[in-house]
Amino acid sequence: MKKRVVFNQKGGVGKSTISTNLAAASAKRGLKTLIVDLDAQCNTTHYVGVDNSDDIHTVADMFKQTVGWFSKTLTAEDFIQPTAFENLMIMPADPALGEIERELESRYKMFKLRDTLAKLDDQFDRIYIDTPPNFNFYSKAALIAADSFIVPFDCDDFSAQAIHRLLDNVMELKSDHNPELACEGIIINQFNSQANLPKQLVASLIEQELPVLNTHLSSSVKVRESHSQRRPLPFLAPSHKLSQQFEALLTELEG
Ligand SMILES: Nc1ncnc2c1ncn2[C@@H]1O[C@H](COP(=O)(O)OP(=O)(O)OP(=O)(O)O)[C@@H](O)[C@H]1O
Ligand SMILES: [Mg+2]
Repeated sequence: MKKRVVFNQKGGVGKSTISTNLAAASAKRGLKTLIVDLDAQCNTTHYVGVDNSDDIHTVADMFKQTVGWFSKTLTAEDFIQPTAFENLMIMPADPALGEIERELESRYKMFKLRDTLAKLDDQFDRIYIDTPPNFNFYSKAALIAADSFIVPFDCDDFSAQAIHRLLDNVMELKSDHNPELACEGIIINQFNSQANLPKQLVASLIEQELPVLNTHLSSSVKVRESHSQRRPLPFLAPSHKLSQQFEALLTELEG
């Protein structure tokens, strides 16, 4: 089982879109794939069509169980929901993640996600973890649980300035808590090859010897359509340019 986390502390850079579409492309290849949604916004959970207002167990319940707030004893499998897509499952988020964060942090539960995912080792080939737009308890738990991370970059000057701080934060966590954590690279999202600024920003990252992945993701209105139809792009529009780019990205990551 390989566990990848998609992380950037900046909001709106494409974390949920990228983690969901990579997971969907992975499932389409026949790999048993789990998405873990750690963001209280629940965007990824909704994107794959799971309604967490139903009486289902979520990743928040998994954390609640570790502090004894949950009366029943549940196993790792109990926090997983099927999706409408073959080979694709999700550990859904719920808004309660925000309410319990302080308590979890003060009780040092950052390692519990890693322990839970380890129990699923023989059931999944790949796990994709979507993180909130903060270097907070949940992002740290994800980076501790994962084998590798990828960083979406939205071709914005503020993002370029923030990338060193981001990598410093992750490297510190790696050395303290997860020495095996590998950086798979920076994924350029919403790339517009006709405009100068994105090209300059990407060239500057490469000049600084930052690990920019070869595949770039274009900007497309199809992303919003895909969100609203709750169908990841590889299922909604397999021959669309952006779906093909997600396929290429997955191939690049998988080697
Ligand atoms: N390649 C793309 N083409 C067009 N729109 C995109 C693309 N990637 C992301 N978007 C849009 O950008 C917005 C943010 O995307 P997304 O929710 O995936 O980012 P995020 O990093 O998960 O955000 P947050 O930090 O709030 O969790 C969404 O409105 C989405 O439709
Ligand atoms: Mg998101």
